[in-house]
Formats: sequence, C-alpha cells, structure tokens
Amino acid sequence: MTFHIHTYGCQMNVRESDAVAAMLEAAGHVRAADEAEADLVIVNSCTVRQKAEEKALGKCGNLCAPSGRAGRGDSPVGNRHRRQMVGLMGCAVSRLGAEVFRKLPNLDFAVGPRRFGLIPKIVAELEAQGCPQRRSGMNRLELPDADEIPEGLSAHSDLASGMAGFKSYVTVLLGCDNRCSYCIVPSVRGHEYSRPAAEVIAEVRALAAHGVKEVCLLGQSVLRYGRRNKAWDDDVGEPFPRLLAALDGIEGLERIRFTSAHPNGCTDELLRTFRDCPKVCRHLHLPVQSGSDRVLKEMGRRYTRAEYLAAVAKLRAFDPEFAVTTDVIVGYPGETEADFEATRSLMDEADFDNAFIFKYSPRPGTRAAELPDDVPAAEKERRNQTLLADQERRGTERNRRLVGTVREVLAEGPSLRNKARWSGRDGGNRIVVFEPSGTLRAGDLLRVKITEAHPQILLGELA
Ligand code: 5AD
Ligand code: SF4
Repeated sequence: MTFHIHTYGCQMNVRESDAVAAMLEAAGHVRAADEAEADLVIVNSCTVRQKAEEKALGKCGNLCAPSGRAGRGDSPVGNRHRRQMVGLMGCAVSRLGAEVFRKLPNLDFAVGPRRFGLIPKIVAELEAQGCPQRRSGMNRLELPDADEIPEGLSAHSDLASGMAGFKSYVTVLLGCDNRCSYCIVPSVRGHEYSRPAAEVIAEVRALAAHGVKEVCLLGQSVLRYGRRNKAWDDDVGEPFPRLLAALDGIEGLERIRFTSAHPNGCTDELLRTFRDCPKVCRHLHLPVQSGSDRVLKEMGRRYTRAEYLAAVAKLRAFDPEFAVTTDVIVGYPGETEADFEATRSLMDEADFDNAFIFKYSPRPGTRAAELPDDVPAAEKERRNQTLLADQERRGTERNRRLVGTVREVLAEGPSLRNKARWSGRDGGNRIVVFEPSGTLRAGDLLRVKITEAHPQILLGELA
C-alpha cells in the first residue's frame, strides 16, 4: 500500500511517526508523495492542549468521512484514488480510549503512544480482511500499559532507505513521572523508562555511519535519564552526562542536542560535560512555566524562581553565549496580575534566547482541571501578546550581541523565505541565513560571520 502520516505535536511524535514510516517501508509499503495518493493515512495526535487535540481529531474526521475516503476534490487525478484505511496514533488515543470510535466511527485503528510498533501488523491484518466496507465493526484499539516498552524504538527511515538525512531524533527516555498539575503527558505517555545506554549508543553509531551529523536526544524530562531504571550496568557517575560523553566519541557525528531539561538536572557534572565534550551543543530548553513562586508551587514544579534563575546564571557564567530557551504558561487558574508580572520580570532576568508561550488549557484528569479556569480568554490573550512582544525585543537584543562573531553553522538547505539563500543553525539552535557557495551541501559544517540580527534569525556571510 502507499501511505502518508500527518504529525501533530512535539518532537517525540515526529520521531515516532518516522519509526512507523520505517517499519511500514520494511514491510513493503511505499511512502506516498501526498495524502491524496495514499491508500493508508495515519494521523499522529497530540493532546497537551485542547486545541492541539481538536486539530488532530478534526483532520482525522475529514479523512474518515466518505468524501475523504474517496479522495474527492483533494486528488490531483480527480476521483480515481480510493483510500482504504485511516488510523490514529499518539497521545489523544490514550486520553480518549474507546471513546475515539464514538467520535470517529469510521476510523480503522487507534494505537496509543507506546504501541506504535504494532501498526505494521495491524495494517496487514486489516488488509487481509478486505476493504473497509466489508470490515464493518472491525476497528481496532491498542492502549498500552504505563510501563510498556515499545517495539520499533530504533527504527529510522533514513537507515531503512539508505538516504541519510543529516539530523535525527533519538528517544532516550519515555514517559514522565513528574506530576505537574496542568500536564496530561504523564497520564497518556506512561511511566519513565530509560533505554539502556548501550542500545542508544548503538543507534547513534548506526546513524552516524549513515551520514547523520546531528542527533537530538528526546525525553519529556531528559535529565532524569537513568534515574527510575538503570541505563548503565554499573553506577559510575551521573547517567545522562555519561551518555553525552559516550556519544561525543562517535566518529562522524558532529553535534549532540537534547530536550527538554529541568533545572534540578543542571548539575556540575552536566556543566563539566558541556566544557569537555565539544559536540554537545551549548543550548538548553529549560521550561520555566511561571515566574511566580506561588504559581510554581501550585504547579508542582519543584523549584523556586530563585533556584531557576540560579541554574540559568550558572550556564551563562560558564558561557555568556549559552542559549537558554523556555516554555511559559499564561492564565494558569488563579494567576493574578502580580503573578504575571513576576513571570515577565523572570523572563527579563533570565534573558531567554527564545520562548514559547502557551495559554492555559484545562486537561481532563489533571489536578489543575479541578480548579476554576478563571482567567478570562481575553486576558490570557493579552498576557500572551505581552510576553511575545517582550521576547521579540529581548531576542533582537540578544542576537545583536552576536553581530561580528563567527558562528559554527550546520547547513540545512535553501531558506524558506528566500530560496537564493541558505539557512542553518548554530550550536545555540539559532537560525542563521547566508549566501551559499557553489559546492554547499546540507549537513556541511560551516563558519559564518554574523552581519545582522533579527528577533528570530541571524544574517551572515561565509567566513
Ligand atoms: N495548558 C497550556 N500549556 C500547557 N503545556 C503543558 N500543559 C499545558 C496546558 N494544560 C505547555 C507547557 C509545556 C509545553 C510542552 O506545553 O509549557 O512545557
Ligand atoms: Fe508535563 Fe511536567 Fe512531565 Fe513536562 S515534566 S511533561 S510539564 S508533567
């Protein structure tokens, strides 16, 4: 069959969609250029905020509708292509359970996050049973246990197809055992499980051997790697810094990133790793969520404003150009104007390189969902816009300090806005746009001198 996967949500979903694509290819299926050409369409869903879930389910609903299945109107070849199968995977499946088939009665299968490895088998079984019309009532639900270890964690389409990209995600820690009051992730992605270090190292070695230059290690709270279950056979040093050091030695690999971090994991040993391992990028995505101690406590974040700022100060004392990015929630239940102003001032003090701002969205089953969602929508929007404007100013200011410096940039390809130029990223994950030379290839590591600063991008010329 030909297949197409739509991915919503975080990097973990991007990674899992790619693993599914690799497994489907290994089973003989072929990737379709676009959805209209595909016999099988899979939607990988997110549920972190209500809007995210609605988007994924809306997409899936359109695909499942009789007109969607026939591909009417959305197919460049007219009415000829008849889609055979639609599946849903990801976090919304865990949250909804069997209800997913009440919302989407024509859906063929729904598979929760830790069972994505079963998709090729399910597709084969449904295919054997014939077209959807003859398969009435055969829709299939797979809900994982909270401790399940998925199959297919190390499947990469790059490796399967031999067409190596230059960047790859690698999952190192599944699930989350934090219980932040607003967050649905722990209940949909299960308990923490750290993959054995030997398995991760072998996976990264294989990627590097196929030309991958940069890996990004993924985990909801990745610095907790090796804490709940052992990742190494012995107990030498801290598990995550030790993993970074081991990966730093892999030949052909140029860069190592990881996300997301928590201030409690910013230990001296982690800092030593940044110092001693040249491939480990000097960037941390360190979600703060709020700058008010009262709100942080209610959220159950396990740090104070002062502790968070101390972690940032430590990173910047080590390297003033260390990139720190964050996530912030505005309009948490009971967030006062004073709480909000505390967040504003924390963001100034932390001098973030970039920030993602989210309007609070109550998620069923979380502790916060029991509190009144009492900040009016218009006020959430005002706080959102205020922080975005602050960050735009701050981002430009921080980027301005880099004008005249030479950055090491991993070339990614033609810039989206101006195809005559190329873009890439520096170690701090900042986007750098420059005039290419004739022999340039994606994945090349270059030196670029910065000439101009914008809030989200740096302009430069090859040095
Ligand atoms: N409402 C709004 N934002 C949320 N996030 C997580 N849960 C919620 C919620 N209920 C945000 C946090 C997290 C990011 C991935 O999404 O900022 O870091
Ligand atoms: Fe959610 Fe907290 Fe886990 Fe992050 S660490 S995914 S915010 S519960």
